[in-house]
Amino acid sequence: MDFYDKDLVSIRDLSREDIEYILDLSKQMVPYALGEKVHRALDGRILGNLFFEPSTRTKLSFESAAHRLGCDVIDVSEMSMTSIAKGETLADTIRMVDAYCDVIVLRHPYEGAARLAADVSINPVINAGDGAGSHPTQMLLDLFTMKEAKGSLDGLNVTLLGDLKYGRTVHTLAQALTMFGVNLTLVAPESLQMPDDIVGRLKEKGCLKKQTDNIEDVISDSDVLYVTRIQRERFPDPAEYQKVADTYRIDNNLLRSARDDMIIMHPLPRVNEIATEVDSTPHARYFQQAFNGVPVRMAILCAILGGEMQ
Ligand code: NCD
Repeated sequence: MDFYDKDLVSIRDLSREDIEYILDLSKQMVPYALGEKVHRALDGRILGNLFFEPSTRTKLSFESAAHRLGCDVIDVSEMSMTSIAKGETLADTIRMVDAYCDVIVLRHPYEGAARLAADVSINPVINAGDGAGSHPTQMLLDLFTMKEAKGSLDGLNVTLLGDLKYGRTVHTLAQALTMFGVNLTLVAPESLQMPDDIVGRLKEKGCLKKQTDNIEDVISDSDVLYVTRIQRERFPDPAEYQKVADTYRIDNNLLRSARDDMIIMHPLPRVNEIATEVDSTPHARYFQQAFNGVPVRMAILCAILGGEMQ
């Protein structure tokens, strides 16, 4: 797809070629993301950052990516600070913000919110997470991190661990990985397994290797271990959360059975699913992954807003 002036709402908007294009562009952005080179490819443009759910990395890395390209940012982080608190609909809020900027980045607790925003907005909308739905920019930085670490995505053994039911990062990532012939192992407590529709798509593509609730059985066979937080805020019943809280934890003892070159990723924030002792091992890749949000989001903004890097 030609990204120029297009929305980025779900994995369904992307082909393997599109993903490869963004990953290649992201690589070129790294020296700019580090501040070693300067390029104001988006000078005079305005990004509208609308975050109606908590965020540290996604919001700040979009801001950092915009600033590194000379793009200005306007933002709202609290629904209570907008006219939504006075009863305005999301659609009307989006129409207004649309008039004040050139691209909208939206995070919202409701699945489908980004699609609705894209339908009413004239300018492009980038989905920065809609409930348990999609998180396509996180998926792109996750793939970039895997590719940088492993050289290629094709044929990797990737294990997704944790809250596969409510985690939007793993919903999006699992489907993207099928485009690269990855072998996927899904590890989750019984009640937090991947939704059936996504499992069905993984099976159709021949990418599902195993589903289990025991990480110890599969860690030795993994090239990438992608750990997630249990999404407490999405549980309709807090008692259900308590039943699964702390059911898995990666520590150095468990890592003794891992391959030396296995990398551990996590979209962050972590709660206690990865012991801090793991941070100083060569397996830990999650802080690098968080940095990668900047070059990857620079690439996405340039592709959508038409910023020339040459
Ligand atoms: C994730 C999210 O918001 O879905 N965080 C992120 O964007 N880096 C994961 C999470 O909140 O657990």
